[in-house]
Amino acid sequence: MNIVVAGASGWIGRALVPSLRAQGHQVSILVRREVRAPEEIAWDPAQRRLAAAALNEVDAVINLAGASIAAERWTEVRKRELQNSRFQSTRTLVDAFSSAPRRPRVLVNISAVGFYGDRGDALLSETAPRGSGFLAELCEEWERAAFAAESPRTRVVCPRLGVVLGRDGGALAQMLPVFRKGLGGRLGSGRAWLSWISLRDVVVALGVLATDVRWRGPVNLVSPAPVTHADFARLLAQALRRPALLPVPAWALKLRLGEMATAMLLASQRAEPAKLLAGGFVFSDPELGPWLQHELR
Ligand SMILES: NC(=O)c1ccc[n+]([C@@H]2O[C@H](COP(=O)([O-])OP(=O)(O)OC[C@H]3O[C@@H](n4cnc5c(N)ncnc54)[C@H](OP(=O)(O)O)[C@@H]3O)[C@@H](O)[C@H]2O)c1
Repeated sequence: MNIVVAGASGWIGRALVPSLRAQGHQVSILVRREVRAPEEIAWDPAQRRLAAAALNEVDAVINLAGASIAAERWTEVRKRELQNSRFQSTRTLVDAFSSAPRRPRVLVNISAVGFYGDRGDALLSETAPRGSGFLAELCEEWERAAFAAESPRTRVVCPRLGVVLGRDGGALAQMLPVFRKGLGGRLGSGRAWLSWISLRDVVVALGVLATDVRWRGPVNLVSPAPVTHADFARLLAQALRRPALLPVPAWALKLRLGEMATAMLLASQRAEPAKLLAGGFVFSDPELGPWLQHELR
């Protein structure tokens, strides 16, 4: 297939693009800087600019673009950046779908389990309603922008990603130095659920969602075995053969990170990959303990 990836320079994109190419797909990437290679296409999502011809002869678009949710404290200005970077990128792509002489067959537009808000022990399949709070509202609006591309010719898939885990980036890479020193511990009460997925399962699943016409709508991209924060800290410490006796109290997280702590680190999301399992998707890394042992060996 002829696939275009947006947000390709990020952590997930850097793993996804080579994997798609290795499967024989022709992959172009959208770049916000000047073009340096034939497989690059310039765009400026902040100005809603993408050449009308950019999506000619393209079969699938995978959109990962968005300013990093965890990189900075959420001031009002930063929150607008988090929203605008996602809404404008998505809307720029959707506009290009409408003006393409032959619309791409699919838009895979990333979203997150943040859609569900803070939901205690409730099991969350794709039919669960949106939760409350900034992230939940952001995800709903982001998905709504993407679904505008839906047409008889074009399907739209919004993968609701859990916390993506890999040794060399994302949340785990930030926690590793602390846990390696034996200074790790559960976050908050430890009872909140963490919906996680390995980077390699994300990469495979995104390829499947783009290439297999059976998929449409929201799809939870999470492993089938979410864990509580207490179990996460225990399993990570075990894999590193270190103690994890120093819990980080909720008040300290809130003091340091403000609203981001409540929405990202303390919110409980026990999402299940209901659609992926029903569709026969086979996870390489279904269980956290064995995955951590293998990844951190
Ligand atoms: N990693 C996770 O655990 C996780 C969990 C849930 C959801 N997600 C979502 O999945 C997507 C990819 O995640 P990731 O971990 O690969 O993120 P990342 O490393 O932060 O990469 C995101 C990419 O988005 C583009 N971008 C950054 N700022 C932008 C802006 N202001 N306007 C437009 N584009 C901008 C950049 O690509 P270019 O410079 O190439 O344009 C950047 O490399 C993100 O939207 C993220 O919110 C990630």
